[in-house]
Order: sequence, then structure tokens, then C-alpha cells
Amino acid sequence: MDEHELDLAIRRTAEFIRTSKHVVALVGAGLSAESGIPTFRGKDGIWTKFGEPTIDGWELFRRDPAAWWENAILAREEGSEFSVAIEIAEPNAGHLGMMELEEMGRLAHIITQNVDNLHQKAGSKAITEIHGNRFKVRCMNCGGRDLLSRTRLEQLPPLCGECGGVLKNDTVMFGEPIPDDALRECYRQSALADLFLVVGTSAVVYPAADFPVMAKRRGAPLIEINPEPTALSGLADVVVRAAAGVALPRIVALLRA
Ligand code: OAD
Repeated sequence: MDEHELDLAIRRTAEFIRTSKHVVALVGAGLSAESGIPTFRGKDGIWTKFGEPTIDGWELFRRDPAAWWENAILAREEGSEFSVAIEIAEPNAGHLGMMELEEMGRLAHIITQNVDNLHQKAGSKAITEIHGNRFKVRCMNCGGRDLLSRTRLEQLPPLCGECGGVLKNDTVMFGEPIPDDALRECYRQSALADLFLVVGTSAVVYPAADFPVMAKRRGAPLIEINPEPTALSGLADVVVRAAAGVALPRIVALLRA
């Protein structure tokens, strides 16, 4: 996409946003790439480099939560490339652009697959974290969430202060069902959406990848912001082939003009 085509795509996106009432965004790892957090798939993805993690995390946790926590604490002390990047990351121009769209009343809700807390750090408010939040724990019994930093880890597994249930980190593991409250909100938002932005996701993980498709089937236009083609590119009404940190501030500027 040359600069002229990009400019046109950005203008069309701003116009779609201007004329819509309930814009919902599905966000993926690409939005945080410019904050120094590697994506999973694609050229610089951590799974491309190191292979996918074991897919039995949820099974291991259910079998022996105390052993799982012991390993998790050790792993945190060692600090993988991914966890160190998340610890030190700050929101980038793309996160700030999304926050500004919300503040301007132009973006109703963010469904994020990211667990890095950067939308909150940027100041966005209406967020559903479909894959959880790395800085939180979640009770397996009552579903309540709390900050990991406030959770006492002397006795493992840690227990919920409200109901005594076993606490797990809030990040959704392979094989683990998406928490009910998050899933319900994603379906609700997808049903309300009259425009869907798909930002920085390869759109291959379900159910997240289904929400824009559901909205599109109901007639909501779909806009993709991603420097690379994805599974959803063919469905998109507008494709913005650029980094989120480049495209989103330009869209905001047009809407402010
Ligand atoms: P992926 O790593 O699959 O895809 C990242 C996407 O971001 C790719 O399509 C890139 O082209 C795009 N991208 C890279 N840099 C970008 C930039 N600066 N601006 C915009 N886009 C950029 O990440 P996800 O789609 O988020 O789940 O992966 C979905 C889920 O797979 C993750 O949430 C994770 C994993 O299983 C869990 O951890 C539960």
C-alpha cells in the first residue's frame, strides 16, 4: 500500500467512524508490538522463534494448582523475554489513539486479547479482556478478580479472600474456557456494534476471531488495521496496511479536525 492508498484508507476509516454509533474494536498483540512486547505469530513472533507452549497448561493447573503456582513463581523470577517486556512496557501511540477515540465518544468498547494491561495504563475505560490480565488473579469458584501484587503467595495455591476458592492467574490458558462474564460482554458488544475495527490481530484464535465476523454478518462494516494480511482481510470493507501506532493517531487527528 503506497502513501496515497494509505491516506485514502485512513480517511475512509475516519468517515466510517464519524457516521457510526457503536464502534467496537477487537485488539491483538500487534497493538502492543510498538511497546516492545513481541507478538506470538508472524516474522518476529515469540512462537515463531521458540515454538508454541505446551497446550496442557489448564490440565496441569487443574491436576495440581500448588505445583503450577510453584513453577509460575520460579518462571517469574527467571523472567522470560515476554514477561520482562510486559513488566516494563508503556502504552504507545496506538493505545493512546484508542483512548482518545473513546474520550471523543467515537469508540464504545475494546475487546482485547492482550493481557498486558496497556489499555488501562493508556486510560481506556470500556475494555473486556477476553484472555485475562497478567497482573491479576481470578477465583476458580466465584470468578472474582484481584491484583496479583496483593495476593499472598506464602501458601500455595493462594485462596480467594471472598469465598475460599482456589486462585489462578487471570490469563486464560490453552484449553481453559473463557470466563463467562468476559464472554457474555463480548457477545453483547458484538451484537451492538455498527462498525468493527480489527487491530493488530492475526484473527486465528477463537472465539475472539468470530466477533467481527458475527458483526459483519449483521451488516456492520469491518475495518482492519494491520501491516500484514490476516484471516479477516478478505472480509474487510477497509484495510489499513500500517502499524497501529501510525494509523490510529492519523484517524484521531482527522476526527478532531
Ligand atoms: P498474533 O501474534 O497471532 O498476531 C499479531 C498480529 O499483529 C499479526 O497479524 C501482525 O501482522 C500484527 N502486527 C504486528 N505489528 C503490528 C503493529 N505495529 N500494528 C498493528 N498490527 C501489527 O497475536 P494475536 O492475534 O493477538 O492467547 O493472538 C491471539 C491469541 O493467540 C493471543 O491472545 C494469545 C495467543 O494464543 C492467549 O494467550 C490466551
